[in-house]
Amino acid sequence: MRRVVCPGSFDPVTNGHLDIIGRASRLYDEVVVAVLINIEKKSLFTVEERIDMLQSVTKEYGNVRVDKFHGLLVDYCKQRGIPAIVKGLRAISDFDYELQQAQLNYRMSGVETLFMSTNPEYSFLSSSRIKEITRYGGDVSGLVPDLIHKLLVERLRG
Ligand code: PNS
Repeated sequence: MRRVVCPGSFDPVTNGHLDIIGRASRLYDEVVVAVLINIEKKSLFTVEERIDMLQSVTKEYGNVRVDKFHGLLVDYCKQRGIPAIVKGLRAISDFDYELQQAQLNYRMSGVETLFMSTNPEYSFLSSSRIKEITRYGGDVSGLVPDLIHKLLVERLRG
């Protein structure tokens, strides 16, 4: 069974995340989407809400499982026998940070990181921009799944 982990905060999941998850699901037998539990970072949605949202929007893929983790990602991978991490790269500005993280993760554990180029349609997307646009009344439909759009509007303008 070839498995890969797709980690992140997913606060909330965007169409950019979904594009990477969907493409990884065609390459691997199982994709584990792992939501970071980070008590230091203020989030809009709770970890359980983010997991529910991810489960709803990935159910059509069939081989995507959603989980949560805390601590080091490589410890999570080792405990579950997952040999690789998949990450989307949007632009060169992502690269420095992601390369360092990938090299550290490999050095610590031998867990590989595979980079997938983001679909140009979503290369400008981030969860924080999505929240900011929604908060100030902008329209993010088409950039996040319809369900997420509805929940964002409820939470930020409700
Ligand atoms: O969606 P994000 O917030 O950009 O995701 C970042 C994430 C969760 C992939 C990264 O912060 C992470 O792996 N955190 C777990 C802690 C860890 O392993 N840190 C060491 C990195 S070298």
